[in-house]
Amino acid sequence: MKITYYGHAAVKIENEQYSVLVDPFFRGRGDEEGLKSLGKVDFILVTHGHYDHLGDAIEIAKEKNAVVVSNPEIAGYVGSFGIECIGFQPTGWIKMPFGRLKATNALHTSGINTDHGTLYGGLAFGYVIEMDGKKVYHAGDTGLMADMQLLKREQVDLAILPIGGFYTMDIEEALRAIDFIEPAGVLPIHYNTFGAIEQDPCRLKEKSPVPVTILGNGESMEL
Ligand code: NI
Ligand code: MN
Repeated sequence: MKITYYGHAAVKIENEQYSVLVDPFFRGRGDEEGLKSLGKVDFILVTHGHYDHLGDAIEIAKEKNAVVVSNPEIAGYVGSFGIECIGFQPTGWIKMPFGRLKATNALHTSGINTDHGTLYGGLAFGYVIEMDGKKVYHAGDTGLMADMQLLKREQVDLAILPIGGFYTMDIEEALRAIDFIEPAGVLPIHYNTFGAIEQDPCRLKEKSPVPVTILGNGESMEL
């Protein structure tokens, strides 16, 4: 199973059969190259409606014939563009062709930014993605929350955590999240895209009790 980081919160999780892309934000960062390098995409998971997460999901779904997965409000919005969507809620596991999927709470807002103002975007999500028996938690945009303690019993193999601060957890809070979740490893995201979220991910790596992998844009790790 391969994890590729494209920058900001955009991550692809894939095995030989399936490719799952989370929060595909490319054009808004001027990253046409990243967009072109995507390859096959079967599912696009959107954590919430903000422009830096819904991003290029509609265009990519059209081009790759991918299914968009999110909350019912975002699924309804994306579906109005003729895209196949699955809208669900934070409940138990749902079965997916690539394995299983669970939506988690996220401490964040979720308005859908459009040219005509902000639409109601439902709840902000994180996701636990199970593929090949391994569990990856993509936290989306979130502050630290006690609910993260519930993830400990999932025995998460990789926690993908925002560390930029201002809109999400910063490094200190991400360290507390790691204490709550006890994942086998951590991939930091959502930093250094804009001035407000500048962070040095090496500080997380130095202080974390579990291994932290720092990936540059377009770099991959095996899990
Ligand atoms: Ni956001
Ligand atoms: Mn964000």
